[in-house]
Amino acid sequence: MILPIRAYGDPVLKKVAQDIRPGHSGLEQLIADMFETMYAANGVGLAAPQIGESIRLFVVDTGAGSADGESAPDDDEEAPLKRAFINPYIVDEEGEEWAFEEGCLSIPGIREEVDRQPHIVLHYLDEAFQEHEETFEGFAARVIQHEHDHLDGKLFIDHLPPLRKRMIQGKLRDISRGRTDAKYKMRFAPAK
Ligand code: NI
Repeated sequence: MILPIRAYGDPVLKKVAQDIRPGHSGLEQLIADMFETMYAANGVGLAAPQIGESIRLFVVDTGAGSADGESAPDDDEEAPLKRAFINPYIVDEEGEEWAFEEGCLSIPGIREEVDRQPHIVLHYLDEAFQEHEETFEGFAARVIQHEHDHLDGKLFIDHLPPLRKRMIQGKLRDISRGRTDAKYKMRFAPAK
């Protein structure tokens, strides 16, 4: 089932998400729905807060996406990564920061360069709640960093220099008020 994606301005996007316990009701279906929702919106990653669930879960498929949206840089040599990550925590980040233009399904129409480190070590559980500690590089690392931020109530625009962020304030306000031409189903927080 395709779920509506919460738009910028929704308080759920600013909350720190809670760990998931084994036996979490409906988790398997939720993961399937998140993949379906992500593909329908041409995304390469989707975090649970973006569909209104403040839990530590995100899905990634770096081989998805589209030419006009997020996709791996042409020189990315990593194999596509498709996976659901439960209770993920970045335990190490290394290397010289590199800039790449990011977007976010919750912030349609805005793409900005974000600096991030290229190597990460991630601790997470798979769908069978088995523990893993794994290294990711390049675009896969970047997508994980972006989605991991969502679980801490952080958006990619929070990484922008203050001047850059001020310049997109008007567009952000429009999105929060439902003025966007996103081609997928979204849900907007009630006006304050
Ligand atoms: Ni995002």
